Amino acid sequence: MSEESRSGVDPAVFRAPVGTHDVLPPESDRWVRAVAAFADRARRFGFGLVVTPVFEHVEVFQRVGASTDVVRKEMYEFEDKGGRRLALRPEGTAPVVRAYVQHRPAVPWKVWYLAPHFRYERPQKGRYRQHWQLGAEVLGVDDPEVDVEVIALAHGFYRDLGLGRVRLLLNSMGDAQSRPAFVAALRGYLLTHGADFGDDFRARVEQNPLRVLDAKNEEWQDVIERAPQLTEYLSDDAVAHFEAVQQGLTSLGITYELAPRLVRGFDYYTATTFEFVSDALDAAQNAVGGGGRYDQLAEDMGGPPTPSIGFGIGIERVLIACDAELGEGAAAPRVDVFVVDALGGGAATVLVAELREAGVSADRAYGGRSMKAQSKLADRSGARYAVILGAREAEHDAVAVKDLRASEATQGEVPRREVVGYLRQALERDRRPKSYEI
Ligand code: HAM
Repeated sequence: MSEESRSGVDPAVFRAPVGTHDVLPPESDRWVRAVAAFADRARRFGFGLVVTPVFEHVEVFQRVGASTDVVRKEMYEFEDKGGRRLALRPEGTAPVVRAYVQHRPAVPWKVWYLAPHFRYERPQKGRYRQHWQLGAEVLGVDDPEVDVEVIALAHGFYRDLGLGRVRLLLNSMGDAQSRPAFVAALRGYLLTHGADFGDDFRARVEQNPLRVLDAKNEEWQDVIERAPQLTEYLSDDAVAHFEAVQQGLTSLGITYELAPRLVRGFDYYTATTFEFVSDALDAAQNAVGGGGRYDQLAEDMGGPPTPSIGFGIGIERVLIACDAELGEGAAAPRVDVFVVDALGGGAATVLVAELREAGVSADRAYGGRSMKAQSKLADRSGARYAVILGAREAEHDAVAVKDLRASEATQGEVPRREVVGYLRQALERDRRPKSYEI
């Protein structure tokens, strides 16, 4: 009998959909650490958290990339029961700008986010249909110092995680004055030199020749290599802005490589664009983050002129890069103390409550398990100490404390009323760097 007919359900349905994944402990501990590092850095840089809906009206995203694959082919679009056309967030900048235009906060508006993103892509390692991004945006400032600050925020985050093999690629997409002349020159060049490449090529060139520059198609690469470069067409203002960004990065000791063909996947980019790539990852998914200026987008959504810049960082890719560079980190201990209870009643309930209130992470077994089973759970919990509530010790109001990491089994008695303070001190001592010890 098949599994389906026995239980009446199709097991394939009760799995995470293709291209999505569950994040479970202890893997999720690494998420917590990455998110906490980013949140802390963003706070120090003066950014506040922004949370926008997971879906928006489809037009919000059409604004950002009518000629891009992410918007044309990969969006999760649907009609809700009220007949509205909506889409799950494929990228994070458009919702932030939509929120800015709607609420008109004072500028500079410096915000960061943590959000799931949805793209109907062909799944592979590092490329998913739902991925998570940490991002930051600054709206309302055109000063190149802001470009430097935003790039430094991302750069510092990779360093916080211990990633050393991340390179920064930098380009300028030019401004409203420089772009049209370049686009016209590029279109002319591509139509002449790619005349044999067929309808798909032609259609892309007609719609937005910049999109061809980041195309992966092997046959086109020779022609793309020799195409005119945007940096040759920059206006004086655009050149001055780009040079100021480079100087600022240099003054902070942030190294970068100029990447004249870096166009990035959205139509909204203007001026500074950048990408962080990890040499520890396969080239097809080596971008661990990217962003740039989008000086026109707020106006395109009906807002006031608002020059802006930001970036998005893929959490899954960053963690894959950490695995590749630093090795898969051992699972972090989940708790500091495990309470083993031979007394029954509420003794363990009270002790774990006291420990947790005192700031010590503590866990216990449930369901009246045997001492042997509880000891096994204590070992598996990764706890540093076990507290054993035993009958013999209880006779003189004491508990046994066992150091689970000591090479020899060391177990001592501690008065019950002192055990919380005793464990706090012991854990504090363990955490103190050795050089501080007298
Ligand atoms: P993006 O380059 O499309 O930019 O995505 C940002 C980052 O998200 C990528 O560098 C990559 O790490 C990760 N990522 C993208 N797609 C996937 C996927 N299918 N699976 C796993 N990770 C992925 C943006 O989305 C812009 N909104 C960034 C931005 C913010 N520009 C200005 N402000």
